[in-house]
Amino acid sequence: TARLELRCAREGEAALRLDAHPTLRVRRAALRGTPGDGGDPQPLRVESRPFATYGSALHVHLPQPLRAGQLLSLEIDYEAGEGPGVCWLAPEQTAGKQKPYMYTQGQAVLNRSFFPCFDTPSVKCTYSATVQVPEGFTAVMSATSWEKQKDNTFVFKMSQPIPSYLIALAVGDIVSADVGPRSRVWAEPCLIEAAKKEYDGVIEEFLAVGEKLFGPYVWGRYDILFMPPSFPFGGMENPCLTFVTPCLLAGDRSLADVIIHEISHSWFGNLVTNATWGEFWLNEGFTMYAQRRISTEVYGLAYTCLEAATGRALLRQHMDNTGEDHPLNKLRVVIEPGLWGVNPDDTYNETPYEKGYCFVSYLAHLVGDQSKFDAFLQAYVNQFKFQSITADDTLGFFLEYFPELKEKGVDSIPGFEFDRWLNTPGWPPYLPDLSPGEQLMKPAEELAELWAADSLNVEVIEAVDITAWRTYQLVYFLDKILQKSPLPEGNVERLSKMYPKISKAQNAELRLRWCQIILKNNLEAEYGKVKDFLHSQGKQKYTLPLYRAMWGGSEAARALAMETFSATAPQLHVNVQNYVKKILGLEVAE
Ligand code: BES
Ligand code: ZN
Repeated sequence: TARLELRCAREGEAALRLDAHPTLRVRRAALRGTPGDGGDPQPLRVESRPFATYGSALHVHLPQPLRAGQLLSLEIDYEAGEGPGVCWLAPEQTAGKQKPYMYTQGQAVLNRSFFPCFDTPSVKCTYSATVQVPEGFTAVMSATSWEKQKDNTFVFKMSQPIPSYLIALAVGDIVSADVGPRSRVWAEPCLIEAAKKEYDGVIEEFLAVGEKLFGPYVWGRYDILFMPPSFPFGGMENPCLTFVTPCLLAGDRSLADVIIHEISHSWFGNLVTNATWGEFWLNEGFTMYAQRRISTEVYGLAYTCLEAATGRALLRQHMDNTGEDHPLNKLRVVIEPGLWGVNPDDTYNETPYEKGYCFVSYLAHLVGDQSKFDAFLQAYVNQFKFQSITADDTLGFFLEYFPELKEKGVDSIPGFEFDRWLNTPGWPPYLPDLSPGEQLMKPAEELAELWAADSLNVEVIEAVDITAWRTYQLVYFLDKILQKSPLPEGNVERLSKMYPKISKAQNAELRLRWCQIILKNNLEAEYGKVKDFLHSQGKQKYTLPLYRAMWGGSEAARALAMETFSATAPQLHVNVQNYVKKILGLEVAE
């Protein structure tokens, strides 16, 4: 049963329109005069109407028009089924392979298949939930407090207002371990040791630096749930409880940038939220900037610039794939079905992240002083916390905060107009200077150059010692190799033998690049590695590039794609399944 407590904003409202996916089976809706009203609920007529492609609208007809300000409590009995927001996993799809698992993924507009709601980031509310699970299972939610009661019943409460997409639930055979004063990790029992080891004692530093830069952390706890391997994202910033891919368990904390990213959403996204999915860059661009500010404080500027350079390479690849002028490559996109419009799920690409990062960096560049810009970010969070806003609000506030910049007309410098940033597709007009990362990037570039030569200078190559290179330095090197691929005949095989640290890597970011190199160089003998990687996890950002590469490759590569997809499709998230089908030219059910 969903209970929605509402206050009528508009005099004379006679019907309500909620979002609900067709897979929600609504059994009964009823009205109580006011929240907590002890009287008999009044049955209501509800009607489901098809709406766009993202679900349907649930029209609730009220017995009489409401007065402005009137409170009401709406009860809806329903059953959720196989909707895209609720993932039901069989035991084989978990790490432990013993018990089933379920989790929800709301962003962007999938929670309407979890519960009837106003499924837009422009509406925020608090929530509470009572969840009963079978014996031997634990439920966790994105909530500020929880309590286990008798009969395997968990009661959750989120005391801060949040948008619908941040309500999340997971149920499985999961256990937890403390990793900091306000943080614990959750995972299946077989992963909990690794999870604790990966992040024990480091989360608090990220949080403390975030608070120093952006203001108080308002969510109480910051816990991390390690998801089953098919989880489609690196991380999802569900408040109080980030969901992450188990690929982060690299054993050496090398992928902590994902955690820092999700922590950064505690201010940008979860406190100050984009009012529409057409301005998703407000969530992700500011979060990338915040992530790299925290990273700079914790790991230094050189390392952070190196990580940002790998991000820029991803933006380059994305724009090459889609064409710079694609409507997706604007920061502000039109969310609509059809030719000019964009599906909110499709906004999950590199543009809002990395072009958004460039725009925020450009704003910082206009200010010219890091500590002044940091102070602006803190004031911005304070100004708009618990609200949903548009880019116009952000940029308006920026110009108010720096009146001397407004005076100078920085919003309309030719070629760098704010309007151009938002509404023109293409490569960012301003790129932040990443040269402080040169000391780490240069050696990697030079080594890639050596490996691209027609006749290898083995002596010089062997003199380069990569044993001390960090993961992102290797990633950067591999991206360069990929750009130069196909390499002259035999070079990749030599490279593979010389660096087992790369070709036999267990680290997911390295495996992704190595698989891309295998495909671009058409090393059929190594196809098994591509197959193994795609069988081992289902992250969208790893899965799609590999299918694109296979489909754009040889006959053998295409056959590998088909064979791998038919074996793994049932394990993939339905959105990822559909994107792969599109790449492979297979029918996608609407
Ligand atoms: N909020 C996103 C994940 C997301 C985006 C889910 C759109 C559904 C729709 C999350 O914060 C994110 O950006 N994750 C990245 C992390 C990376 C940029 C460090 C990911 O999953 O790769
Ligand atoms: Zn994000």
